[in-house]
Amino acid sequence: MRLDIISIFPEYFAPLQVSLLGKARLRGLLDVHVHDLRQWTHDRHRTVDDTPYGGGPGMVMKPDPWGEALDTIAPPPSVPATGARSIPAGQATDAQTVDVQTVDVQAIAHEQAAGAEHGATEGRRPPVPRLIVPTPSGRPFTQAMAVELAAEPWLVFACGRYEGIDSRVVEEARTRMRVDEVSIGDYVLAGGEAAVLVIVEAVGRLVPGVLGNAESVADDSFAPGRMQTLLEGPVYTKPPVWRGRAVPDVLLSGHHGAIARWRRDQALRRTVANRPELAAELDPADLDERDRQV
Ligand code: ADE
Repeated sequence: MRLDIISIFPEYFAPLQVSLLGKARLRGLLDVHVHDLRQWTHDRHRTVDDTPYGGGPGMVMKPDPWGEALDTIAPPPSVPATGARSIPAGQATDAQTVDVQTVDVQAIAHEQAAGAEHGATEGRRPPVPRLIVPTPSGRPFTQAMAVELAAEPWLVFACGRYEGIDSRVVEEARTRMRVDEVSIGDYVLAGGEAAVLVIVEAVGRLVPGVLGNAESVADDSFAPGRMQTLLEGPVYTKPPVWRGRAVPDVLLSGHHGAIARWRRDQALRRTVANRPELAAELDPADLDERDRQV
């Protein structure tokens, strides 16, 4: 999966080099490119914001740099991909010392590579990315959305700051690609960067091959299917007794049926305690006699 992230703080994405996603990048499963929005400014101060029309506090991100950024990374049909240079293998994007020029050229080169990857020949256009715009006024981000996004070949993230991005940017982008305005929760962050880290981690771990054990995804809290409205219950590992606290006997019993039943009981209890609104959504048809006693 290809991921392009546009932000005025490219160094914010250094965490994508570590742990599960860092390894997935090294293994070629995730192709992450971080772009500094300011490379698409043309004034001495590299201005990306201006005062809001209609007045009010704060600043709004100007449409011009965003328009140019999106045109470069995902050229509209009328803009030919020009200036593509091949990037030496192994010259990976280092988000901490992000070389803007290198990243930009990589984006353009990708446009052609993506075409080749997807069987584009002369006259056939490469795939169109899906644009994700994190904003507190977006649709709630859910596990179901993460599953859906994990099936996409190419995602572009536009990180707004201040009071947000001039609305015409999303409006225009919608004319040529699928755009999702997404909120990660009912609170306001200082910008979209932290939200993108959350979304990329939730999506990235679902990309085939990224997690070692594919089964663990099905048991996730909120996983579509069996656990959709159930939270995962408690987990334990060795030693069997720690500070006088024993692991529940059933988990040491070797009885798979009893263990599955116990886990379901725990999941139901936790859901009722922590997320009563989710518990209320459970379909009675999915509950057996024992579930109803929990
Ligand atoms: N930007 C600021 N707050 C946000 C939120 N809650 N979700 C997504 N993007 C945001």
